[in-house]
Amino acid sequence: MKILAIETSCDDTGIAILEVSKTGDFAVKANVIASQVKIGKKYGGVYPMMAKREHQKNILPALISALEKARMLKKPDKSPKEHFDGPATISLEASLGAVLEREPELLKKIIPFFKKYEKPDVDLISVTNGPGLEPCLWVGINFAKCLSYFWNIPIVPVNHTESHILVNTLENKNIKFPAIALVVSGGHTQIILVKGKPHFAKASRGAYKILGETRDDAAGECFDKCAKILGLGYPGGPIISKLAVKSVGCRTSHRLPRPMMGSGDYDFSFSGLKTAVLYQVKKDKNNSMELFNKEYKMKMAAEIQQAIIDVLIKKTIKAGTDYKAKTIILGGGVSANQELRKQFLEFSNEFKIIFPKPELSTDNGLMIAIAGFYHKNKITNWKKISANGNLRIN
Ligand code: KG4
Ligand code: ZN
Repeated sequence: MKILAIETSCDDTGIAILEVSKTGDFAVKANVIASQVKIGKKYGGVYPMMAKREHQKNILPALISALEKARMLKKPDKSPKEHFDGPATISLEASLGAVLEREPELLKKIIPFFKKYEKPDVDLISVTNGPGLEPCLWVGINFAKCLSYFWNIPIVPVNHTESHILVNTLENKNIKFPAIALVVSGGHTQIILVKGKPHFAKASRGAYKILGETRDDAAGECFDKCAKILGLGYPGGPIISKLAVKSVGCRTSHRLPRPMMGSGDYDFSFSGLKTAVLYQVKKDKNNSMELFNKEYKMKMAAEIQQAIIDVLIKKTIKAGTDYKAKTIILGGGVSANQELRKQFLEFSNEFKIIFPKPELSTDNGLMIAIAGFYHKNKITNWKKISANGNLRIN
């Protein structure tokens, strides 16, 4: 079967096409990401309404590019009216207008697209319906509804957090359970118990249990805010990790707190770490602006990164031990961090440690396609799909 996936929960517009064989083998046909990182850099973060407009601009070009990559972009040999699979009694514009009521700009562009190209050979559309920024989620959902309606292809809504876990099955077919998943991104930091394969494959109710999560900022958010304090730009995670690598050989900087590290539960709190960085940097700048230099920032970056890693590893390994896990699964943008991966691998004697390729750790459409495959039986009437910014995995 072929799955077309759509991801717009934050600031990356992702469109992927995945082919799954009868034996369950995955063949990635396309995984296109239109990133808004340049805009994030300019404004120092993600602003939902701005991100929504970018999704509206990028989503159709991303679809065209994905179809092209998958060699599925074909001009029709029939007239558009004949190949329109939706209700035939009303005009194309009027019927699509009802689906894309809230996306007038997209409607204008999609009608010529539908007239120009043939329905692709796709069996299922999967789309993120949460968690994430609701204005952004709606762009992907409305777009999915429109494709589903026009091409008459069923849709499954999928959970973004779960997709960060399931993307690991691309390269790990025989995950041993129980497993502990650490999902760390700009929006979430959660330790999740993944109970067993039958549940995992069906991803049914009760398959996951959130053991702990952040009480305030997410780990990625902490990287981003600390980078801003140091005047380093956006997104903070990759910038801090690159600087930290260069700090080798520098004397260690001020030791930062490891919030809630000894709390005995699986919860996190990263806002205190950000505040500690803010006060320390203010104090050090007041003492000497000259010392607020590249070396200072490198040392601080290394300490921020290590403080975050220490807490993430301590709590995840504790969960792994407490629940007799066989596997630790990492996912989400922060799991692209090389130092985090390296330090997790030190526990390879106790657990199998798995993580996606760095480009699949951050948001992408492929993870949504994979989750769509596991949920292929949960086809939902497009009229009933809506965005839920706070959607939970359990
Ligand atoms: O999963 P993701 O792409 O989007 C959300 O769902 O939020 O995660 C984005 C987050 C950002 O906060 C970014 O700073 C962080 O992931 N990130 C990293 C690295 N690459 C991305 N954090 C630490 N080290 C990295 N190499
Ligand atoms: Zn994410």
